[in-house]
Amino acid sequence: MMGIALRMARRGIGTTSPNPSVGAVIADEAAQEVISRAVTAPSGRPHAEPLAIAEAGERARGKTMYVTLEPCSHHGKTPPCSDAVINAGLARVVVALSDPDPRVSGRGLDQLRKAGIAVTRGVRAHEAHWLTRGHIVRVSERRPFVQLKMALSADGCVPHGTGHEPVFVTGPLARAMGHLLRAEADAILIGHGTLKDDDPDLTCRLPGLASRSPIRVVLAADPVGIEGSRLVQTASTVPVHLVTTESGIAANAEAIGQMTASGVVIHTVRAVGGRIWLPSLLERLAEIGVTRLLVEGGPSVWRAFARHGLFDEVILFRARGGGATTSPISIAAAAAELECQAGLTGLLLHARRHLAGDDMLVFRRPSGHTGFIPPAGLSSGDT
Ligand SMILES: NC(=O)c1ccc[n+]([C@@H]2O[C@H](COP(=O)([O-])OP(=O)(O)OC[C@H]3O[C@@H](n4cnc5c(N)ncnc54)[C@H](OP(=O)(O)O)[C@@H]3O)[C@@H](O)[C@H]2O)c1
Repeated sequence: MMGIALRMARRGIGTTSPNPSVGAVIADEAAQEVISRAVTAPSGRPHAEPLAIAEAGERARGKTMYVTLEPCSHHGKTPPCSDAVINAGLARVVVALSDPDPRVSGRGLDQLRKAGIAVTRGVRAHEAHWLTRGHIVRVSERRPFVQLKMALSADGCVPHGTGHEPVFVTGPLARAMGHLLRAEADAILIGHGTLKDDDPDLTCRLPGLASRSPIRVVLAADPVGIEGSRLVQTASTVPVHLVTTESGIAANAEAIGQMTASGVVIHTVRAVGGRIWLPSLLERLAEIGVTRLLVEGGPSVWRAFARHGLFDEVILFRARGGGATTSPISIAAAAAELECQAGLTGLLLHARRHLAGDDMLVFRRPSGHTGFIPPAGLSSGDT
C-alpha cells in the first residue's frame, strides 16, 4: 500500500510547490482493498490526506491510511490534516517520513497517537525521502533540491550552441527524458553563456505536459544582450526570473526596464568575484517557493555548483554514437567525463537506462556529503 502512496506522490512532483507532493491511500487491510488514493493538489492545496478522506467518505472509519509524509498539525492556509485524520475515524496511520518542517516535526504523529490512532513510522522511508527531498532541504537547508543535468557527445564533449539554437548530442528519446525532468522541476536554471549561445526556450514540450513548464531562471551578473532573447520574449507565457547584481542593473538600466516591462522578474543577489553567489541564489529560490531546481548548465554553471557542493543528483545523458547496438559507457568512463566537463567527483551511481542509442546515468552524492563547502577565504558564516 505504501508503494501505491509513493506512486501517487511521484505524480505530483513539479506541480505542488511550495508544498511537497504527498501521496495518501486509505485501505481496508483485512480485505487488502484500496478504498481511496490521492496526491497533493496542484499548487499544494488541498493536501493529499483530506482528498483521500473525502473520496473514502464513511468507508474511512476504522481503516488504515498510508501516507508518504507526516500529516501536518498546524493551521496554515488549510486546517491541520491531523484533525481531518482523527475526525475521519481512521484506526491506523502508516507514515513513511516525519516532516522536518519545524511547524510539524513529530507533532502531527503525537496528535494522532493521543487520539488513540495506531501509528507506524519509517515504512519505505528511503524512497519517500528522495521523492520529498525538495521539501526536506528547503525547510532544513533553505535551498531547493538540485539536479545537475548534462548531455555529452560520444567523445565526452559539450558542443557549443550556434548562437541561435542548441546543438543536440542525443536522440529524441533522451531529449524527451530531459523534458520529463523539466516537468518534475519547479525551476530550470541556465547561465548567461547558454542563453547567448543557445537562445533556448527551456519549456516542457512533451505532448500533454506543456502546462508543466517550470519557471525559467537565468544567472547573469552582467545581463548585457539578454533583452532580445526567446526567454524574455516569452516571459508573459512561462515566467522568467533573471538573477543579477546591483552593478549589473546599474550597467544595463535601459535593458532591465524593457525586461521588466516584458514580465521578467528581476532578483539582485550577492556576487563574489563577479559571479552570482550560489548560496544566496538558492536561498532566494527557496524563499519564492522553489523546491526542485533543474540546472541545465552550461559547463561554467555546472562547475560552480560542483565547487560549492550544492547539488543532490547528477543526470548524465551520454550519446553512444553508434546506435542501439553500441556498448554502454562504463561507470569509470562516465565518472572521468563528469570530472573533466563539470569538476564533479565522488559520485555514486543510483540508476542507469538505455535510451535507444544513448545512455542515461543518474548519480547521487554519497550521504553525509550534502550542504555547502565554503571556498578558500570565506567561512561558512559568510553564507
Ligand atoms: N550539452 C549540454 O548539456 C549543455 C547544456 C547547457 C549548455 N551547453 C552549452 O554550454 C555553452 C555555454 O557554457 P558556458 O560555460 O560558456 O556558460 P554558462 O555556464 O551557460 O554561463 C556562464 C555565465 O553565467 C554567468 N554566471 C553568473 N554567476 C555565475 C556563477 N556563479 N558561476 C558560473 N557562471 C555564472 C556568467 O555570466 P555573467 O558574466 O553575465 O555573470 C558566466 O559567464 C553553450 O554553448 C551551450 O550550448 C551545453
